[in-house]
Amino acid sequence: MSRNQLFSRKTVDQCIADGEAGGGLKRSLGPLQLTALGIGAIIGAGIFAAIGTAISGDAGHVGAGSAIVVSILLAGVTSALAAITYSEFAAMIPISGSAYTYAYATLGELVAWIIGWDLILEYAVGNIAVAIGWAGYFDSLLRGLGVTMPRWLVTDLWTAVRDPALLAAAPHIGPVPIVFNLPALAIVGIITWLLVIGTKESARVNTVMVAIKVAIIGLFLFVGLKYIRPEQWTTPSFAPNGLKGISVGAAIIFFSYIGFDAVSTASEEAKNPQKDIPFGIIASLIICTLLYVAIALVLTGIIPWDRLNVPDPLAVALQYIHADWAAGILALGAVAAMTSVLLVFQLGQARIFMSMARDGLLPPWAAKLHPKYRTPHITTIITGIFVAVFAALAPIGVVLELTNIGTLFAFILVAAGIIVLRRKDPDRPRPFRTPWVPVLPFVSIAFCIYLIASLPLLTKLRFVGWLAAGAVIYFLYSVRHSRVRRLELDRE
Ligand code: ALA
Repeated sequence: MSRNQLFSRKTVDQCIADGEAGGGLKRSLGPLQLTALGIGAIIGAGIFAAIGTAISGDAGHVGAGSAIVVSILLAGVTSALAAITYSEFAAMIPISGSAYTYAYATLGELVAWIIGWDLILEYAVGNIAVAIGWAGYFDSLLRGLGVTMPRWLVTDLWTAVRDPALLAAAPHIGPVPIVFNLPALAIVGIITWLLVIGTKESARVNTVMVAIKVAIIGLFLFVGLKYIRPEQWTTPSFAPNGLKGISVGAAIIFFSYIGFDAVSTASEEAKNPQKDIPFGIIASLIICTLLYVAIALVLTGIIPWDRLNVPDPLAVALQYIHADWAAGILALGAVAAMTSVLLVFQLGQARIFMSMARDGLLPPWAAKLHPKYRTPHITTIITGIFVAVFAALAPIGVVLELTNIGTLFAFILVAAGIIVLRRKDPDRPRPFRTPWVPVLPFVSIAFCIYLIASLPLLTKLRFVGWLAAGAVIYFLYSVRHSRVRRLELDRE
């Protein structure tokens, strides 16, 4: 295989033609539904669950304290810069593969494969984290209603092996203790089923969920507002762990922004993708940033910063000010919020696999649409099984950090792709243009690198291991089956 083959590129026109010819997805989503899809993907486990350890810290890292609001802005700027670069691509190549498709058109097949493989971290592994966050709030909701599930049915295996009492209490098959996170497993099963039966129906469920979660955040802010004690923001200090706490906090809370790019994975289902996809991406990001800043200020204003290392920090904060009724409603809303994140991510993952299969980098069955529902049912089900199994067994911190590093890496490649395509194909119509190229994409890359550097070493090593596994699959399978490569060979 020659060096050139590794850098085979699909032309932008080829990408668009493939999407139009091979897709056949129903075009049912307008600008509001796309913005809802973005908000559906963005507000979830990050702001409802991970914000707790980002503020308080845990065994693995220090916390930001009240300076979480700075972390949120730092992660927000990183995401906004990426959102701008994604928008240019999404409008130009309105095809469902997102960053994967953009890379194929600009940086070549090997990079496209790397990004496609990397996006599994963002979408499927991200969903594992969200399913675990979902289960945490579901459990606290049930307990609020007086129903206590046995611990061995709501605990992941990783955590359980460090808890001898829990292991002893679990039922055993022979010597093997049965411990897994049943709610996380169950919700992924339900979501998978919903997605197999159709996008329109799922989008409708999503819109309802989004309305609920925005209302629930409104409730949190409204109830919390009058309990804010400004001195709480500076006790013992605004940033108890200095710049380190702020940076680590940003690298973790970045999770709460992931998802705006999922809007672009629905390009083939958008009625007017060139205009509506950039709108959906940017509008959803702006709305969420404003809400997050408000949540952070209220949260750190009503409860001491070091009390939030819990699975359900927002509910705990409301309990702290004795608004137990609101805490119960909030837990219910958080469950709805995370359900919509699960929907959008599972939808996005299946569509990325579909694009990769269309290009021959994955086997052809992955691109098949269901004859009646017109959804990529096979990849949806496989993704569902993968997510469900790990959600039942893994702890949230590990999968969340892996998701963040994978997504930041994808953002870097997309920004690089903008610079490359402006040079290689300057005259192509760009319905949305990134301003100040190449400065803005370079600044975007710098922010992403800063957040990656703030993540723990172990997470970086896991990420390198993941990419290495992807490289093995590429050279064993994809390189021989690539459709672009075959077309090139035919031409020679
Ligand atoms: N942004 C999504 C969440 O916080 C992934 O759940």
